[in-house]
Amino acid sequence: MRYLVVPSQETETWKEYLVSKEWLERKYSIETEGENRAIPLSNLFPKIAPMELSNFKIIEKDAPSISPNDYLGYLKMSLGDVTYNKFEKFWPQSFDQIGEVIIIKIDNEVENFSENISQSLLHQNKRVTRIFQDLGVQGDFRIRKLKLIGGEENLGGETKIKENGVEFLVDPTKGYYSPRLATERLETLECAILLKEKLGRELKICDAYAGFGPALMPLIKEKKLVNYILANDLNPKVTSILESNLINNNKENIEFEIKCEDAQKLINYTNYKQLFDLLLVNLPHSTIAHLPSLIGLLNNNSTSVLRAWSIINLKDVANIKSQIQELFLSQKYSISKIIVEPTRTYSPTQVYTKIEIWTN
Ligand SMILES: C[S@@+](CC[C@H](N)C(=O)[O-])C[C@H]1O[C@@H](n2cnc3c(N)ncnc32)[C@H](O)[C@@H]1O
Repeated sequence: MRYLVVPSQETETWKEYLVSKEWLERKYSIETEGENRAIPLSNLFPKIAPMELSNFKIIEKDAPSISPNDYLGYLKMSLGDVTYNKFEKFWPQSFDQIGEVIIIKIDNEVENFSENISQSLLHQNKRVTRIFQDLGVQGDFRIRKLKLIGGEENLGGETKIKENGVEFLVDPTKGYYSPRLATERLETLECAILLKEKLGRELKICDAYAGFGPALMPLIKEKKLVNYILANDLNPKVTSILESNLINNNKENIEFEIKCEDAQKLINYTNYKQLFDLLLVNLPHSTIAHLPSLIGLLNNNSTSVLRAWSIINLKDVANIKSQIQELFLSQKYSISKIIVEPTRTYSPTQVYTKIEIWTN
């Protein structure tokens, strides 16, 4: 069994990175390895480690036998071998954990056992207080329909997250949050620091589709990086939590404004036109369609940066890159650097793509 050895304080970040690539072996736990931590790797992990992990050691260790404390081991023990084995191929092998909440997809064949599944998960994960069954994405805001199948009813869906050293609240029953994007958010921080160095001043930042604000949290924590934030989201259930997250983490006393509008209309406020040094656009299914109404928010008097994320057809990557170049030129922005880079597979034909544009 292969394990990735990482510094203890970076365990969560690299664990989420491995989850995003489906490279975490969930059957086994993370182990102590001297002063470091060893994270178990699934058999989807490539034979040769990818570049971004080249600083870390990969070691071979004997896999521990699954104890009854493991969720599936516990489920087997509580159902008995006969029932467990009868449905073996249907038991959920993976789930998402967001703070104290677990979200799990359950096949129809084993839906009758949802209580057994939730009890096993609660037994195995002592920090977890609620288990939600994932019934799929719905509505304009693409929120997961979640059904509570175990744990404390009166807590609702709200839970505290610690990501990249910052704590904030999210509620997956009200809006979108994915721990899988934690490394992207660290990259945004690195990008903002570079931009600040280039401009020699603090930044004005707009997150047009901010959700609960996970991308803004590390930015406002950094000393003297930001002097103004516009955080917008069309979903009012999300913006009320976003506001408390910004208030609770605003140790630098940054001026900020929350808006609850269609981001495509922000450009109608004359004071926002060409105001922002850094613009974040994360509405992956519509990013490309919305960009024409958004890039006018970028400062055109000095270097500014767009960071966006989009789901596109793999065969369209080159086309989309030219389309974005043309769009910037048509709005009189010159480009000094453009990255349109697939980061992971979304479907057999589509890729999740990172876009980063630096203007002059
Ligand atoms: C994929 S989530 C991204 C949230 C957050 N930036 C993150 O990384 O976790 C997209 C967000 O855009 C919001 N949204 C959807 N349509 C919108 C629109 N037209 N204008 C502003 N926000 C919108 C949704 O409510 C959702 O919170």
